[in-house]
Amino acid sequence: MKTKWWQTAVLYQIYPRSFQDSNGDGIGDLRGIIQRLDYLQTLGINGIWLSPVYKSPNDDNGYDISDYEDIMDEFGTMSDMDELIEEANKRDIKIIMDLVVNHTSDEHPWFIEAKKSKDNEYRDYYVWRDPVNGEVPNGMRSAFSGSAWEYDEESGQYYLHIFSKKQPDLNWENERVRKEVWDMMNYWLDKGIGGFRLDVIDLVGKIPDQEITGNGPKLHDYLQEMNRETFGNYEDILTVGETWGATPEIAKLYSNPERNELSMIFQFEHILLDQQPDQEKWDLKPLDVKELKQVLAKWQTSLGTEGWNSLFWNNHDLPRIVSRWGNDKEYRVESAKMFAILLHMMKGTPYIYQGEEIGMTNRPVTSIDEVEDIESVNMYHERLASGYTKEAILESINTKGRDNARTPMQWDETANGGFTTGTPWLHVNENYGEINVRKNLEDPQSIFHTYQQLIQLRKDHPIVVWGEFELVEDVQDEVFAYYRMYEGKKWLIVANFSNEENEVNLAALSDAKEFIISNYERTLTGDTTVQLKPYEAFVVML
Ligand code: GLC
Ligand code: CA
Repeated sequence: MKTKWWQTAVLYQIYPRSFQDSNGDGIGDLRGIIQRLDYLQTLGINGIWLSPVYKSPNDDNGYDISDYEDIMDEFGTMSDMDELIEEANKRDIKIIMDLVVNHTSDEHPWFIEAKKSKDNEYRDYYVWRDPVNGEVPNGMRSAFSGSAWEYDEESGQYYLHIFSKKQPDLNWENERVRKEVWDMMNYWLDKGIGGFRLDVIDLVGKIPDQEITGNGPKLHDYLQEMNRETFGNYEDILTVGETWGATPEIAKLYSNPERNELSMIFQFEHILLDQQPDQEKWDLKPLDVKELKQVLAKWQTSLGTEGWNSLFWNNHDLPRIVSRWGNDKEYRVESAKMFAILLHMMKGTPYIYQGEEIGMTNRPVTSIDEVEDIESVNMYHERLASGYTKEAILESINTKGRDNARTPMQWDETANGGFTTGTPWLHVNENYGEINVRKNLEDPQSIFHTYQQLIQLRKDHPIVVWGEFELVEDVQDEVFAYYRMYEGKKWLIVANFSNEENEVNLAALSDAKEFIISNYERTLTGDTTVQLKPYEAFVVML
């Protein structure tokens, strides 16, 4: 197989609402992103995954689309969008659009038509069912709390919404729906974008009557059709599917090049390790580092030539990794760098979420009034009604809520961290005076510079891109160590996933030739034992 650009690339996710406001209305926008392209070029990334910028009433911040071929008013115009693509391309940065086609907004013209009557020509674009014994058709639940069925008085039927009731699910069994989606994708491909991130794509093969949502029987037929009808006809397009329920076996179905589906998927097995099994994300459980090592090592070694990994700790749906599994106080800088080193030395395509590269942290709330995110708000009311205490619910929100990742980007020490001159749509984290881009750029020891260096290492050393992965088994539970091997070269990566010092004893250390990167000062001694500092991480060439 010929090398693809995305195999050697590092991607950066922008959540436009919170990235940079250019006109003082408190909402990030496309012109704001254009202003910051030079910054992203300095970081060294090759592509931007842009969270949705399409027309939307913002029930779920753009993941509820009312026009796929127009831009949200607050974000700008289509000509701003064209300029963004062009300016990014000039800097060798490709734009990856977020493709949200499991559902539309209820304000999309298709749904407005569909709702008009049972025999409207758009009715079958969505999933409608008669009541069963005067009740909802079945027990399907919405990911945002409550039933997944919403009653429509006028027609006496229910429609399906796996997310909010303002996000009705499209009926992918309808060929016309698929054709509309292909046309829309080609519209964007013709603009010169670099690819798509496919929102909750594992749900499109659902069979509502059997309560099957993820990994339905027709899912892969649809993706092969999509590939054939759209990006398969363009050069070197990156496609990454969001697939919460994927195992390595399922991942191969999506990303085996011979099957002509997607480039890669986002798998979430590692991300689910700090929740109680078979419960919701809000039901917290401490991370067991041993499990994390096993899960990530499994993904590193099981895809082979039948797939390609994505690598990430963060996105707009997840809490900040330094706050989640690191230490965002005493060892914020050290732990942020440890996460960076550990992930960026793995095999796959790394995705950095805005602010991760400067070690941005969660932003706790003390009342539900401070929360914007629909998922958290709905859950709050549902759990309150079923007897949870406010304190317990807020603890879940502060640990896992999506607003943690969505606070505005912290650029400098000026008001609102330089994000806006107006009133930000969501509170800026009060720590912006200490944690911001300007300070990071100035300090050669900053988290930013670790990320920059890691991106450069991937460009300079084929071992980072292609090397085989091997987990080091016989070390303490909290030490995450692995080898990469390529064409006779061998690197050792060691990370102390802990607030405490930990000893690591490895015969290979006596062969260490030089440090490639590290987050503490350390010199090579030839000793096989090293006393690791809290969150210490280093890479040595053997
Ligand atoms: C995906 C998105 C999330 C959104 C949901 C519904 O999980 O990442 O932000 O709420 O899909 O579109
Ligand atoms: Ca704005």
